[in-house]
Amino acid sequence: MSDPKAYYITTPIYYINALPHIGNAYTTIVADTLARFNRARGREVVFATGTDEHAEKVLQAAEAQGLEPKVFADGLADGFREAWARLGITYDDFIRTSEERHHRATREVVRRMMDSGDIYKGDYEGWYCVSCATFFPDTDSDSPNCPNEECGKPLERRKQPSYFFRLSAYGDRLLAHFEENPEFVVPEFRKNEVVSFIESGLHDCCISRSSNGWGVPFPGDEEQQVYVWFDALINYLTVTGWPDEDGDYQRLWPCDVHLVGKDILTRFHATLWPAMLMSIGVPLPKTVAAHGFWLNKDRKISKSGGGLVSVDQLAEEMGEMVEVDRDVAYDAVRYFALREMTFGQDAEFSREALWGRFNADLANDLGNVLNRSLPLIERSFEGVIPEGSYDPDIDASVKRAAKLSEERVDDFDFRGALDAIWESIGNLNKYLDTKAPWNLVRDDEAAAKDCLLTTCEAIRRLSILLTPFIPHAAMEVRSQLGLAVGTEGTFEEELSGGPRVAGTKIARGKPIFPRIKIPKSKPAEEAEPVEKSVADEKPKASFDDFMKLEFRVGTCLSAEPVEGADKLYRLKVDIGTEERQVVAGVAHVFPPDELVGKKLVIVANLEPAKIRGVESQGMILAAGEKDPVALVTLDRDVENGERVR
Ligand code: MSP
Repeated sequence: MSDPKAYYITTPIYYINALPHIGNAYTTIVADTLARFNRARGREVVFATGTDEHAEKVLQAAEAQGLEPKVFADGLADGFREAWARLGITYDDFIRTSEERHHRATREVVRRMMDSGDIYKGDYEGWYCVSCATFFPDTDSDSPNCPNEECGKPLERRKQPSYFFRLSAYGDRLLAHFEENPEFVVPEFRKNEVVSFIESGLHDCCISRSSNGWGVPFPGDEEQQVYVWFDALINYLTVTGWPDEDGDYQRLWPCDVHLVGKDILTRFHATLWPAMLMSIGVPLPKTVAAHGFWLNKDRKISKSGGGLVSVDQLAEEMGEMVEVDRDVAYDAVRYFALREMTFGQDAEFSREALWGRFNADLANDLGNVLNRSLPLIERSFEGVIPEGSYDPDIDASVKRAAKLSEERVDDFDFRGALDAIWESIGNLNKYLDTKAPWNLVRDDEAAAKDCLLTTCEAIRRLSILLTPFIPHAAMEVRSQLGLAVGTEGTFEEELSGGPRVAGTKIARGKPIFPRIKIPKSKPAEEAEPVEKSVADEKPKASFDDFMKLEFRVGTCLSAEPVEGADKLYRLKVDIGTEERQVVAGVAHVFPPDELVGKKLVIVANLEPAKIRGVESQGMILAAGEKDPVALVTLDRDVENGERVR
């Protein structure tokens, strides 16, 4: 029987003053991954995100442009929607606090809190930061600045009649709730912070401001409007259709997960929000999950704190460095965010780390499996994935990845889930190393078929597991396998039973994950001019010297990475009389399929040498000052073993 309760997941609603950057995009990427994962398990999911629009600075910015605040906010909210679409975010509801449905829910919450006797009128005086829309406790200074280290703007002294919520009455009930519901705040160590905050004593909370016409009017007192943070939290109920309790509310509430950053956990999502719900008699959400910060040189990335770069800008930069599908560039950002950060902890963001992960994990590990199998299927099986038997060890490895990734995603351990999937991708690469299907196609066709069928089926299954993390790229992988995309079933349907890819005509296109040539850390304009040193010029060689070297033509049969060395391939080269193993430092530049099958020129009489423990019996010729940029090949076909002079 299907679950009548949908899996309801939310992100914070975002201030509309900055478009998604790695910091706030992270919350949304995590939420999207959870939403997609649960949909793939056959659960009905409702994933809500949106915009928090009632800040005073929105009004000020609109006035500065001579626009109605709603019209101004419409443009910014659309900007968010479009940015999320580019990142592949599959939200089901986009809630804006300026919407009528939200005003209605907010006013009803306030009315019910009044009915519970939890709201009283008083005077509020304090230091107010317009930028953060927050009052701060009194200080000794006459003109203090905002204590929020990312802001630091001058505070304004404000005194106003206001309404207060008796938050102080809820401390014990909140602590009891945490005690009885250990999963309410995750990770565990964050719960301890929240408990200490509450144990140190809660103060009543001012929940209204004098009206400026851009906010939710306070019920029964139109001179006042609801404080922005108070109305913002209510968005989670608005989405369910509350206060109507017979529609979606029944299906959605209590919310399964509120995802938040650690800065908005303690005061807001783990204290004020649950106390508000207690006051109106609505059950509490099941879990509030808080992640850490993305840092730039140890400081939180933010508009004022520095290091802010929009996700669009990152995708654009990637597009400038390498010929990559734009959707895949966005997936690279998703992948990086999910793999690099341990949920709950802070993580440092840098472009070098982003490009590095793309090259190492996507281009090398995942890309290699494709590059080592699809061209071979084209060459040896007319592009059709052969029938064969599915290797039981690979089957077990993929099943293990599926089990572990499901368990870990449920624990918000996205990094661990990807580790498990990458372990299986690693096993697949090792399997290809051992089986060497490029040799089997000559020596044992049946074994070559088993190997290629196994590889393609494992890739298909792993791509299903990868879809929630990197949706576009995973689809592209399936379409290169020649599979119909867009009609995938649940994990259970896609990952059970025997192999399904045999007989499929593959559709290999350009590499999905082409290697990025990572610019050196110094920007080009600062780079020191390269001066040719005299030492670069080699002494003259006599004709006899030259004749000592033997250059031969050979066909590259295979190119496999050398363990522990990002730049090295172990090449097998057929030089007519024999097969040579050559270690070449070209792996960071050329994917295997640009080498395999190509006629190369090798220095055939070099003394064998061990490079990273692997014997190299020759050297291939390539052009390039430091890194190879072009291979020396032949402009027409000649037999392997031909000498080059
Ligand atoms: N509008 C409030 C939330 C109201 S929810 C009822 C708000 N908005 S925000 O746009 O400032 O931040 C939204 C989310 O982005 C928060 O969860 C915050 O933690 C997250 N991040 C913003 N910068 C961040 C980093 N540098 N790193 C990680 N997340 C950070 O707060």
